[in-house]
Amino acid sequence: MTILDGRKTSNDIKNEIKAEVDRMKANGEKVPHLAAVIVGNDGASLTYVGSKVRACERVGFESTMVRMSNTTSEIELLDKIEELNNDDNIDGFIIQLPLPPQINTRKVLMAVNPDKDVDGFHPMNFGKMALDMSTFIPATPFGILELLDRYGVETDGKHTVIIGRSHIVGRPMSILMGRKGFPGNSTVTLTHSHTKNITQITSQADIVISALGIPQFLKAEMVKDDAVIIDVGITRVPDDSEKGYYITGDVDFENVSKKASFITPVPGGVGPMTIAMLLKNTLLAREQHRK
Ligand code: GUN
Repeated sequence: MTILDGRKTSNDIKNEIKAEVDRMKANGEKVPHLAAVIVGNDGASLTYVGSKVRACERVGFESTMVRMSNTTSEIELLDKIEELNNDDNIDGFIIQLPLPPQINTRKVLMAVNPDKDVDGFHPMNFGKMALDMSTFIPATPFGILELLDRYGVETDGKHTVIIGRSHIVGRPMSILMGRKGFPGNSTVTLTHSHTKNITQITSQADIVISALGIPQFLKAEMVKDDAVIIDVGITRVPDDSEKGYYITGDVDFENVSKKASFITPVPGGVGPMTIAMLLKNTLLAREQHRK
C-alpha cells in the first residue's frame, strides 16, 4: 500500500512555482498577485484563506486578503468583484465559499472575470473544461489529477466511482476522469444522495473518490482489494482538545488502508494539494495576462 502524500507533493509543486517566481523576479517581471475575498467569520473558511495567503508568501507571490462582514449585501460584494476585475495589478482572485444566505452564490460567481477566475467556478471555465479546452481547472479536482499523475497511478480503462456531485469537487471530477488522456480515460460512475445500493457500486470500483463530508462513511466492506482510495472529506468533529475539534475524512482509513493499493490520508492528502493548484492557476493567469 502506498500513501499518496499530499503534503510532500504540494511542497514539491510550491518549490517548482517558487523557482519560476525567482526567475520572474530576476528578469524584472511582475510576480503573480492573488486576491481572496472572504465574507463573514466562518472558522474553517478563515483557516483556508489564511493558508492560501501564507502559501502565496512562501512562493513569492503577492497576495491581498479582502475581508467583508457577515452582513455584506449582494450589491456590495458585486461592487468589490467589479473592482478586482478592473484592477490590473490582480492576476486572479477567489471568493471563498460558502457565502452568507443573503447572497446568491451563482450570481456572484458569474460576475468574476473568467480570465481571473483561478478557482475555475465561472460557467465559461466549467464549460471549457467539459469541452477539453485549456482553462482554469478547479483546484481540488486539479490537485487529485496531479497526485495520480505524480504517483503514476493507472487510470486508463479503470472504473472510477465518485461519491458526491458538488460543483466544486464531484461534478468536475466526473468530467475530468472521463476525459481523453492521462490522468483520464476512466469509465466514471457519479454517485450521490439518491443512489441506491451504493456498496454494490463502490465494491466494483478500481478508483474511489469520496467527496461527501460524512466522517468514516467509506468502510472496508465497500471497496475491493487493491482499490485506489481518494478521500476529499474534511470534517471538523468536536472533541475535548485545545482546538475543540479534530479533522477526519470520509474514509475509515484504519481498515480501508489494509485493502487499498494507494490511499490519501486526512489530513495531509488532498487538502494541501488544493492550495498548491490554486497557486499553479494563479501563475497561469499571470502568464496569460502577460501575452
Ligand atoms: N470552499 C470550499 N472549497 C473551496 C474552494 O476550492 N474555493 C473556494 N473559493 N471556496 C471553497
